[in-house]
Amino acid sequence: MTDNSWDSYAEGWDSNSDVISYSERAFRSLTETLDYKGARILDFGCGTGLLTERLSPLAGSIVALDPSRKMLAVLDAKQLGNVDTIHSSLTRELIDQNRQLQEGFDLIVASSALAFVPNCRETVGLLAGLLNRGGHLVQWDWLKEGGGEDTGFTREDIAATSGTRACPTSR
Ligand SMILES: C[S@@+](CC[C@H](N)C(=O)[O-])C[C@H]1O[C@@H](n2cnc3c(N)ncnc32)[C@H](O)[C@@H]1O
Repeated sequence: MTDNSWDSYAEGWDSNSDVISYSERAFRSLTETLDYKGARILDFGCGTGLLTERLSPLAGSIVALDPSRKMLAVLDAKQLGNVDTIHSSLTRELIDQNRQLQEGFDLIVASSALAFVPNCRETVGLLAGLLNRGGHLVQWDWLKEGGGEDTGFTREDIAATSGTRACPTSR
């Protein structure tokens, strides 16, 4: 399943200082928390691969998945030797057909991606099923405080979905 609603952001994404800063902070918090050297990694909602390219030098291999063709084209143009891209959103059908996903992952990262997924709880369930024993799913997203229609998650949403610890990054 593909979704091109992010295509129009692709061209300017890697020169947007806010976006660069977000991925740098995500990367820093990850390296302070986990040793991912040699790991098999899934970058869910990878976009243009700002996080993928930071992880690539030490990762064993990375599968980078995103439903936006143009965001992925920017990542493909970076020609990272240990990165394969999948142009799709994540569905049970995709997993059943895709060997690379079925092989499992030591680390799954989702940087500012899950807030844009229509069926987050179901998607987190699918992602959890792709983790190898002892693997980690690490999410960074927008904190929703108060009511309203803002994109993101409340602290309660996160706790209910993951049951894991929060690793806050300031904006
Ligand atoms: C805010 S961007 C973040 C991109 C990248 N992770 C980064 O940090 O630069 C959100 C990304 O989520 C992707 N996305 C939207 N819906 C998705 C879905 N259902 N499954 C996976 N990715 C999705 C978009 O195509 C877009 O690339």
